[in-house]
Amino acid sequence: MCGIIGYVGARPCKELVLKGLEHLEYRGYDSAGMVLVSDAGLDRARAVGPVKALRAVSDAVSATATVGMGHTRWATHGLVEERNAHPFLSEDSRFGVLMNGIFENYIELRAEVTAAGHTLSSDTDTEALVHLLEDEYDGDLAETVRRLYPRLEGHFAFLVVCRDEPDRIIGARLAWPPLVVGRGDGETFLASFTPAFLEETRSIQIVEEGEIVIATADNVEFRAVTDGSVREHPIEQADESLEVAAKGGYETFMLKEIHEQPTAIADTIAERFHHGELHLDGIGLTDDELRAMNRVLIVGCGTALHAGLVGRYLIEEWGGVATEADVASEWRYRNGVFDPKTLVIAISQSGETADTLAAMQIARERGARVVAVTNIMGSAVARAADGVLYTRAGLEIGVAASKTFTSQVTLMTLLALHLGAVRGNLTTQQVAEIGNELRSLPDLVQRVLDDKAMDAQLDMLADRFCHDRFFLYLGRHLGLPICQEGALKLKEISYIPTDAYAAGEMKHGPIALLGDDTPVVAVATDSHVFEKMASNLEEVRARGAHVIAVGTEGNTAIAQHAEHVLYVPRTRPELQPILAVLPLQMLAYKIAGRLGLDVDRPRNLAKTVTVE
Ligand code: AGP
Repeated sequence: MCGIIGYVGARPCKELVLKGLEHLEYRGYDSAGMVLVSDAGLDRARAVGPVKALRAVSDAVSATATVGMGHTRWATHGLVEERNAHPFLSEDSRFGVLMNGIFENYIELRAEVTAAGHTLSSDTDTEALVHLLEDEYDGDLAETVRRLYPRLEGHFAFLVVCRDEPDRIIGARLAWPPLVVGRGDGETFLASFTPAFLEETRSIQIVEEGEIVIATADNVEFRAVTDGSVREHPIEQADESLEVAAKGGYETFMLKEIHEQPTAIADTIAERFHHGELHLDGIGLTDDELRAMNRVLIVGCGTALHAGLVGRYLIEEWGGVATEADVASEWRYRNGVFDPKTLVIAISQSGETADTLAAMQIARERGARVVAVTNIMGSAVARAADGVLYTRAGLEIGVAASKTFTSQVTLMTLLALHLGAVRGNLTTQQVAEIGNELRSLPDLVQRVLDDKAMDAQLDMLADRFCHDRFFLYLGRHLGLPICQEGALKLKEISYIPTDAYAAGEMKHGPIALLGDDTPVVAVATDSHVFEKMASNLEEVRARGAHVIAVGTEGNTAIAQHAEHVLYVPRTRPELQPILAVLPLQMLAYKIAGRLGLDVDRPRNLAKTVTVE
């Protein structure tokens, strides 16, 4: 969840490190820090808060150093305080260390270095490593790191520098935290994610788990931690869609990304239709294998799980196969029963989420076939699966997912359609008809985003309800995961407590929360459960609560059951989720704006969640 960047080359690197950190800030913004290898030794600057706070104190470090590394933190061990900000230096300022990940045996490691006479300056797990280096260094930094590696438990990617070997940065990786190398002309970058250096080079190499990397200006060597043998990795070109992010005239990344949804959905669909025919190249299973599947399990976290829940309904409806969706962090500790006829679909926009990865690994160990749905090419999730289906949303910076959610729903819709076709549940004509409607969705999404009347209505609703203490979201069938997503959006960026419930379940408890100060957001677009939703909304209104409903254009019946209706265009019910979520994203966005909050960097959150 932290972001790391390193540079070794001929150019003064302070600005390169700061710029790299700015591109990694979405991974964590509790504090930031950097260490540069200058003629005088190791120069360090750290600050609590985002990278701009580090920039403000960066005069303290060398302007001419050409080797350096930086870190942006999402706190795991230790409060958000400067003393817990990375990098950490040894007491003699000879070694510097920073890390993304966790040392699970940090209590023992901290005890060990304390017993050896070191004084710890932080409460972190990472700091122990710098003192171990101090004690174990034998004149070869890379080999010292390799010797120490087996003593470090957990999952991590870390970088270290040493004053005595000023021309290099050593990195190491265990388990899923990513580490990628950027190869420039006479310079080398190391980072958690390619966009950190994409303005400088697109030539990349991936550090695999269980490897040490030795980076100098002109050379990069990968060594296996087990025996020190040298490994070769091809130089690849970074994915075009990872363009370095800019707000492009929008006030926030989230707003920009909400408005990028028509393109993201269209791009996700486009590569799947060749001459009007649906293809799921990359799925990693033959049509015969897909026909043989008797069960589907979808796993993911947060927004990705909500996309999976939409997928569950569609796969059952069109694919005709029993489908379950579960939270990856819960599912992985269940004793899930599997056989080779179970298809597991793991959804993760970042491709790094620790719990989703662990669930995939367990599923594969138990014999299931695993397909990943991710937005990041070559990510850990992509590499851990039998097949990969990519969403084409482009880089998403705002911590609250928007375009990646609708792209994931789009991909799950395509997958369900494909299963329906190969399993003989849908005729060729039905697939073609649904496919055509799907391809017209980006235009409908654009219409909603351009709808000035709805925008004004959302402004009015945000003004009226932004100070309320609680929002309840109600939906049924495909409307339920959309409510869950809408409720998550509002709570994560506005900090207003929300709950999302199956409308039929409301009377079994949540109805007790309702009063004349409760806004209730309902997804009540046209479907076979519309009448049932209407009855539930009457139960809500009878308690004096205020109903804000998302309805389908042309169906004015909903107006009799709601105080406010946000109409979205008509499409077939199975495709409605992609339209219905749009007003909920915008409502959350506008409410957070009224409250003066930073929607791109909500408190306590990070864009990638590489801890369990
Ligand atoms: C979404 O708004 C959240 N920030 C969060 O729930 C996110 O969807 C979740 O952490 C999963 O991330 P992933 O898709 O990268 O695995």
